[in-house]
Formats: sequence, structure tokens, C-alpha cells
Amino acid sequence: MFAADLFKGKVVFVTGGGSGIGYTIAKQFLLLGAKVWIASRKEERINKAIDELSVFGKVNGATMDIREPLDIEKVAEKIKLEDGRLDILINNAGGQFPSAAENISYNGFKAVINNNLLGPFYVTQIMAKTFFIPQNEGIIVNIIANMFRGFPGMAHTGAARSGVDNLTKTLAVEWSRFNIRINAVAPGIIQSSGLDQYPPDFLKGITDVIPMKRTGTMEETANPVIFLSSPLASYITGETLYVDGGNRLWGDQWKM
Ligand SMILES: NC(=O)c1ccc[n+]([C@@H]2O[C@H](COP(=O)([O-])OP(=O)(O)OC[C@H]3O[C@@H](n4cnc5c(N)ncnc54)[C@H](OP(=O)(O)O)[C@@H]3O)[C@@H](O)[C@H]2O)c1
Repeated sequence: MFAADLFKGKVVFVTGGGSGIGYTIAKQFLLLGAKVWIASRKEERINKAIDELSVFGKVNGATMDIREPLDIEKVAEKIKLEDGRLDILINNAGGQFPSAAENISYNGFKAVINNNLLGPFYVTQIMAKTFFIPQNEGIIVNIIANMFRGFPGMAHTGAARSGVDNLTKTLAVEWSRFNIRINAVAPGIIQSSGLDQYPPDFLKGITDVIPMKRTGTMEETANPVIFLSSPLASYITGETLYVDGGNRLWGDQWKM
């Protein structure tokens, strides 16, 4: 559907690009001609993904914890040394665990806020200061979650992702002067490795309450990210695109 050379000559960085949705986003960018960097905490995961993704194009990787600004700065330096620029940042890395709000420990809440709110901010600010602001050009897409009506069962990530949703709007306004566009994609229930961490019965019957009566695929999540990163979306900034089969509008997110 997209032109095969849509991202030819572009350098893309996908956090958490070694698995699931991030991996699929990285693959789509490679298929459309981009040079892609992926990074996450587990070296083994990143190396395996690089081996597999190399079939589709030029991909590099690094280990990095998005909660550690020094790690992120090192990756920025690597990208600068090797490619001299960065065109597109996809803030995809993240994670959370289900729990009733009254049972979330302070440490657990803090851990999810660190991972899903502070982490994306650190990555965004470092990449903007290293590349996008001096280049006077850049595109950012934040992967958040379907917290349109709150996030019952995962209060910590609802709060964190809402923060990123708001950051998306704020930075869209503040950084328009640097020719930076920033948008978000909010996935509903997507069949990916990310779902493996939930208890087996957690999502039982979920498709009954999704208006489209099915979960989404990783490709269906990656495609809107590709669109928002492309010149086809050149006048779109500060938006959140829900990719959830209508779940934000109707039906339970999941059984409490
Ligand atoms: N699947 C869904 O239904 C769904 C719905 C809404 C939102 N999301 C969000 O979409 C994103 C991708 O999800 P997914 O389903 O593809 O899950 P996934 O396979 O678990 O992907 C998450 C990735 O993020 C990386 N990561 C996590 N914490 C990190 C950290 N502190 N620093 C660096 N990397 C980190 C992980 O790699 P390492 O372990 O190697 O660090 C992993 O590759 C996540 O943010 C997820 O919360 C998913």
C-alpha cells in the first residue's frame, strides 16, 4: 500500500524493537527502505532480532534501559557516529502488570511510571536535543494504550500513558517551531508477545466486548505508525490515533 521507497535514506529508532509490536514496526520500516535502530534491555533479544530483521534491510541495535538517561545518551552517540542523523523516533518500549489499584505497591506504581512515562520522556528529550532540534526536523510516534475511559485493572499504566498522551499534545505545540511532528498510537488488545505476561484467563471473553469482535494484529498496529511517520501525515501533529476495533467507545476493557 505504501511506496516501496517511502523511507529511503531515513534513519529510524524503535525502542523495544526486539519483540512484538516494536519488532513489526521495525520490519515495516525496513521493508519501506529505512535504516532502522532497535534497542532494549536484553542483549540476546536484540541480537536475535537483528539477525532476523537483517533479511529485510539495514538494521542496528543496542542495549538500553529507557529509564536510564546515560544509556540513552550512549545510543544517541552510536547513531550519530554511524548515521550522523535521526529522522524518526518510535517510543514503543514499555510494560505493566495487572492489579487492582488498592493492591499496587508504591514501588510497583513507581516502576510503571518510570517505564511508561519517564522513560519515553527521557528518550524523546535526548533524541530531540541530539538530532531533531539541531536538524530542525524530526518525527516522533509514541505507542501508548487505550486509556480513553481510564484504565481499570492497571491504574499505573493508565496514569503513565495519559501522561504521554498529554506530552504528545504539549510537545506538538512547543516543537512545531523546530519542524518536529509528534503523534501517538493507542493500541487496544493486540495479539503480541506483550500479552504473554498476563494470567491465562485475564483476557478470556475479551473479543465479546470489542465492537469489531476480534483482537488486533501487530501489522494493524504498525501500519498507522508508518502512516503517521510518513509525508502522508505531514499536517498531522499532537494527535492520538486509537487502533482498538472501537473498544474505546464501547464494552469492557477486560473483566475486573
Ligand atoms: N499488545 C497489546 O495489546 C498492547 C496494548 C496497548 C499498549 N501496548 C504497548 O505497546 C508496546 C509494545 O508492546 P508489545 O505487546 O509488543 O509487548 P512486548 O513484546 O513486551 O514489548 C515491549 C518491549 O519493550 C522493551 N522494554 C520494556 N521495558 C523497557 C525498558 N525499561 N527499557 C528498554 N526497553 C524496554 C522490551 O524489551 P526488553 O525486555 O529487552 O527490555 C520489549 O521488547 C508496549 O509499550 C506495550 O505496553 C501493547
